[in-house]
Amino acid sequence: MSWRTASKLSWLRSLPAVSEDEPLASRTSFGIGGPADFFVEMSKPSAIEETINGSLERGIPYLLLGAGTNLLIADAGVEGLVIRVVNRDHHIDGRVVRAGAGLKMMRLARIVAEAGLRGFEFAIGVPGTVGGAVYQNAGCWGKELRDVLVEVEGFMPSAGKTTWKPADLKFEYRTSALRNGKLKGGLVVAATIQLERGDGEEAKAMMAKLTRERNETQPIKTKNCGSVFKNPPGDSAGRLVQAAGLKGAREGNAVISSLHGNFIINEGGATAVEVKKLIERVQAEVRRRFNVELETEVEMVGRLKK
Ligand code: EPU
Repeated sequence: MSWRTASKLSWLRSLPAVSEDEPLASRTSFGIGGPADFFVEMSKPSAIEETINGSLERGIPYLLLGAGTNLLIADAGVEGLVIRVVNRDHHIDGRVVRAGAGLKMMRLARIVAEAGLRGFEFAIGVPGTVGGAVYQNAGCWGKELRDVLVEVEGFMPSAGKTTWKPADLKFEYRTSALRNGKLKGGLVVAATIQLERGDGEEAKAMMAKLTRERNETQPIKTKNCGSVFKNPPGDSAGRLVQAAGLKGAREGNAVISSLHGNFIINEGGATAVEVKKLIERVQAEVRRRFNVELETEVEMVGRLKK
């Protein structure tokens, strides 16, 4: 591992509050994954930017982590530096809301409802942070972040601080140019959204109703990574998994939810290898029966065996 020289290791060890061999499983909603070689939690954008630049200059691999809700981390962990982005500030000015990348979408949904704003109720069904939601154009109940997004403050290692308009981010269903395009490696610092004025109590009632519904159809109280697959055009991955007779299928302690076919549950102690095997089994079976390619929505990171 070429980046493991004495001077690079000493730079990593000089980062504020850095830890080594830091377990990551508990920092993901799946509860799966080995340790980060090095781990820091940072809220100040300038510190995060400096650390990204420092890593790049030294050829040290880095991974940006939010709430860890859409991730499958390898059992052998993550090489290099994991930076957990925790800037959670927010500011409301009339109908315009600016939120730090580390703020949870569900928390922001409650904050804006409290402020009498409507149009963000869908976010109560979105696990993960604002930064993660920009990265993959997260959505629920037919609405996506791009529907309310005005602009994003970001940082591009080669170009420095920048502002991205929605068109720059090339949003599509569950993806953006940050996940799959020219902006890969970019950092989301904060997002600005514009909402409608309305009755905050109505927004809260709507969110309570949506949460009840989600509770009935998704295994939200279990350890999972959200939807495992993207929905193929015009269909539902969950429906296909069910039709393939795969609900309840398991590999070790990873099992396909009997409530919703697009969820894999870690029953306790499941490994990334087991989850990956289950994913591949579902893909093969759905391909064989229905000739449909299921693409993963969950992002697999770290030292995964091919
Ligand atoms: N269905 C089945 N069997 C199942 C699951 C679903 O037959 O096991 C059927 C349902 O009966 C329904 C259809 O499939 O007729 C669609 O199911 P559902 O309404 O549960 O929505 P979904 O398409 O499975 C999407 C998002 C969810 C989001 C819900 C609610 C994706 C991959 N999933 O699920 O997002 O919460 O709509 O809006 O786009 C996520 O992205 O992590 C996520 C959970």
